[in-house]
Amino acid sequence: MVTPSPAGDREKVVSKLPSWLRQDLKVRAAQLGVDIQDAASQAIEMWRTTNEKLAPVDTSGGVAWSSWLPPGQWAQLKETCAERKVPLVQGLAQSLALWLRENAAPAARRYARRIVVCNQKGGVGKTAVAAGIAGACAEDSELKVLVASEAVALLSDATITGEELSGDAVGRTHQDEVHPGLGLRVLLVDYDPQGHLTNQLGLPTIGIDEPSLAKYMAGTEKRGSVKDLVVTLDDDRFGGRLDVVPSCADAFLLDIMISTDRNRQATLERVLEPLEADYDVIVIDCPPSLGVGMDAAIYYGRRREDEERGNSGVLIPVQAEDSSADAFELLLEQIESGQADWRIEVDYLGLVVNLYDARDGYVITSSLEAWKAFEEPRVIGVIGRLKDQREAVRNKKALMSYAPTCQQAKVIRRIVREIV
Ligand SMILES: Nc1ncnc2c1ncn2[C@@H]1O[C@H](COP(=O)(O)OP(=O)(O)O)[C@@H](O)[C@H]1O
Ligand SMILES: [Mg+2]
Repeated sequence: MVTPSPAGDREKVVSKLPSWLRQDLKVRAAQLGVDIQDAASQAIEMWRTTNEKLAPVDTSGGVAWSSWLPPGQWAQLKETCAERKVPLVQGLAQSLALWLRENAAPAARRYARRIVVCNQKGGVGKTAVAAGIAGACAEDSELKVLVASEAVALLSDATITGEELSGDAVGRTHQDEVHPGLGLRVLLVDYDPQGHLTNQLGLPTIGIDEPSLAKYMAGTEKRGSVKDLVVTLDDDRFGGRLDVVPSCADAFLLDIMISTDRNRQATLERVLEPLEADYDVIVIDCPPSLGVGMDAAIYYGRRREDEERGNSGVLIPVQAEDSSADAFELLLEQIESGQADWRIEVDYLGLVVNLYDARDGYVITSSLEAWKAFEEPRVIGVIGRLKDQREAVRNKKALMSYAPTCQQAKVIRRIVREIV
């Protein structure tokens, strides 16, 4: 479809594109500081004039895509597609894939993305969200996974019937998109002495006299390094990419253990930094507290020198309840005062409203609206109260593996695709 632009210098074109390609284009254009419209126009020109025989692009899972192109260019693309006997969507996809190949991402100083999942209120879903996010990042890229098209609106979950759906696509609703897994290398840190995360994933906690994260942070452990603590989750879905630092009960004393350190807010960073090169994403499942240990987690999530805004930061699960709002105020105060004291910037990755059930009545629904009214941090996802999470915990499996097509898994994948 073509609409002339009011200014007459460009025309609007509308097509479909696989969503990963749309996303890659957006990200790369931003990295290179190129206007997406110019990138699209360059891409089409490159494709039309190349003699190279290009591999077909998988255009399944197409989503709407539009851009503004110089007048006539779209018609030229159609002509070339006709000559090469490929559908228009294929021609466009090949053009953009070619442009991406020729315009590599800048070799910026890359930091592992650090996601600090925190809220001193217990039971809001920190552990569920942290594990969900880590799992969604590590899913194999050979898999086709279901991703909710929206993470904030509560979408109907009527599944598609009458279509040939197989494997993971069973359970797909009209609002779901199908994407490849992200295939990222993930380190999930159980930073809560209660060890819920460790237990839920069926892993043993660390004995009180063994080397532990807290002991390395305090500098009292001279044996080995934190790398020795890492356990890889044995689950085909993650192909050995999901690693865990299990919990140890000594972390109940973490605040005291690190209190005399001159730079105690930097203790977590000191210990984890040597591991960062091995991972794309590091997720910290925080304890329900606001102590010195929590300061160290906030500090770890700060924006580093040259780090892109929003690459790392804090992700805050909350509940649609009044008491959750009070706890949230305290957390924000701590983050703000940490920023001022240590002269750092901490990015808010967003709020996730968890355990939501509209049937709980007016207080709950109005509280969701109140959360949504926040601008910073903004709500980036709403997760219902669902049985799958509890069942996954009971079965000691990661949610993404236990119930990969449940609503929560789909919403978490959408959240992840927005922040990663
Ligand atoms: N969306 C959800 N639906 C149903 N149960 C959930 C959901 N999120 C978390 N839970 C359950 O609620 C309890 C508290 O969640 P958890 O993630 O442990 O919170 P926190 O880490 O903040 O203390 C756990 O039993 C967990 O399995
Ligand atoms: Mg927890």
